[in-house]
This record gives sequence, structure tokens and C-alpha cells, in this order.
Amino acid sequence: MKHHIAILGFGVVGQGFAEIIQNKKRQLKEQFGLDAVIVAVSDVMKGSLYHPEGLSIENLLKVVKETGKLDAYPDQKGLVRGLNSFETIRNSNANTIVEVTFTDVKTGQPAIDHCKCAFEHRRNVIMSNKGPVALAYPQLHALAQKMQVQWGYEGSVMSGTPALRMPITSLAGNDISEIQGILNGTTNYMLTRMEQGFSYEEALKEAQALGYAEADPTSDVEGFDALYKIVILSNVILNYPLKITDVQCQGISHLTKNQIEQAKAEGKTWKLIAKLKKEEDNIIASVKPEMIALDHPLANITGATNAITYTCDLAGPITLIGAGAGKVETGFSILIDLINIHRTRKSVEEGACGKDIITEENVVSR
Ligand code: HSE
Repeated sequence: MKHHIAILGFGVVGQGFAEIIQNKKRQLKEQFGLDAVIVAVSDVMKGSLYHPEGLSIENLLKVVKETGKLDAYPDQKGLVRGLNSFETIRNSNANTIVEVTFTDVKTGQPAIDHCKCAFEHRRNVIMSNKGPVALAYPQLHALAQKMQVQWGYEGSVMSGTPALRMPITSLAGNDISEIQGILNGTTNYMLTRMEQGFSYEEALKEAQALGYAEADPTSDVEGFDALYKIVILSNVILNYPLKITDVQCQGISHLTKNQIEQAKAEGKTWKLIAKLKKEEDNIIASVKPEMIALDHPLANITGATNAITYTCDLAGPITLIGAGAGKVETGFSILIDLINIHRTRKSVEEGACGKDIITEENVVSR
């Protein structure tokens, strides 16, 4: 079954996803009957292309690599250039919009408006942007349901590590009373290096050079990145609409060398822990550095790796460990949402009722 895709934003994640679609074309067809066709790419800096029958991924990647833009993409009959992101959503024949624009996490824009426009035009949306899921989850979720389309955002927490889908599908039936995790790779990498004797500044420089940190590392080191992720977990997993301002948030910038040494001397380690705890009808949420014992499930998570523990009444504590960022890993998070949208479309065509791909509520796919 053909699945038409429009990509908004052709940076690292957009290109990573396109590469995966190209490399796995045969496997996706054979294993899932999924014929993924990229019909449009629209990037505010690089330019925009649309062809209703599909663009050549090879050419897309080549021209962007060689020129940094899409303008040199070869002319072909039926090719439309210059559509902006909203025109691409409205006027293309895409079934699914992959929203990977550069979005301001504080406002969630332009990703929130892209989502609204896409749902109103009955397009599914897949994204790894945190802003819309942290700031506008109830409204966007309701709109997607009303318009009977699907919304995938697996990559918004821990990139391709299934921090959202795993508890919803495989831990269903449990009462999850607490979620705690290391949800920011930059700070975990820095804390690991600081334990090895590096200064805060040296560790941050290294994390930036390795590409872990956000463009403005304040978001990492002051805990805001983890804060958005814990709000998403509350919205999606605990079904509790938390606001950013409901979370106590402290980063690692005030931690001193002495405090790091003291933890080591006590057989403990510092971690930036993001936590949600159910208390009667309330949720207590925090992001802060904690000194934890070495037998804590999160104590041995070092470097840029992320981890999350769900405390379940039936299954007990379950810890998931994996990447929290990366071109291929985040590209995969888009792919797994796409595969699940495709599965739903297929089951609808075969006469079954569709499912929201993340929350499993009844939604019929376009
Ligand atoms: N800067 C983030 C991190 C990237 O260090 O985890 C993923 O959100």
C-alpha cells in the first residue's frame, strides 16, 4: 500500500528519516506491505519541493549534501517548487506529515500550528518535537480524534527508545505509581565526565562537540529539556495534564566539584533525575540532581545514555535503557510511528476499527 509522506524541516532528523526510508525500502514492502513515498519536502531555509508521484530520495540527499539547499534538485514534469509548510500540508497529497522543523520548545511553534493545520486537513502527523506534546497535548489529541487521524510522537521522549509505546502497550493493565528517569543525555554525559575529574566547563564543551547538547545548552544544563519530557510522560502515560509550571525544576549548573567528590566518597553518584509520583489524586513532579546509591537502577547509566523506570503494581519496577538522541535513533522513532499508522490504515481497509497509534484509542486512519 502506497503511503505518501511530506517532510517539514529537512535537518538532521528529516534527512536521517529519508535515509532510513531509502535503505529499508525493500524490507518495509516485504515485511509490512508499506510502500513509503516521500512526495514533499519543505524547509524554511533549504527550499521546498513537491511531486504527487514522489521525489527521488537519492537526489534529495545528494543536493542537500552538496549545496545545503533543495534548489539544485533536477527539474521533472509535475514538480512544484516553493510551497511553504502550510501550503504543503494543505495542497499536497500526503497521507502523513513528518513534522521535524526547528521548533521553539517554549512556544511549541511552528509545530503546534502545523499539527492543527494537518489534522484539520485530515493528515496524520509524526513528530519528534517536544513542544506540541508538552504544551498542547489535550487540544491536539482531541482534534486528531475528532478528525479521525493519527498522531505519532514516540521520538519526543528518548528518541527511538520506546519510552511511550512500551508502557502503553506492554505494561497495559498495571497501575503505574511512579516514573523516574535520566532523560537528558548531555547532563548525564557531563556528570559522568565530572566524576572522572573533568571540570563543568570542560565536560560541557565535550558534550557540545559530540552533538548531544541543544543549540542553547541552557535547556540541558538547567533541566528544561528533561522538564518537557516529564510533562509529556505525565500527559501521555499517566493521563494527567501537567503544566510546565507544575514541575519543580533544578539543573546541574550549581553542582560543585566538592559535591561530586563527596558522593564518590559515600559510594553514591549524582544523576539528574526526572520524576513523576502519584499521590492520591495528585502528581508530584520534579527534575533535580539527586545523589543516589550505586545499587539504584539508574546509578550505572553513564555517558549520554538515557533510562527510565516505571513502577508498576503488577509487573514491579521495569527499567528501559537506550539512546535519547541521534540521527538514526530519532529517524527510527519516526519510522516506528509510520509503521504503526500504516498497520492501522491496513486494518481499517481490511474492515477492522483503527487505533490511535500511541494511546490506542479508537481512531480511524485516513
Ligand atoms: N539535548 C538533548 C539531550 C537531546 O542531551 O538529551 C535530546 O532531546
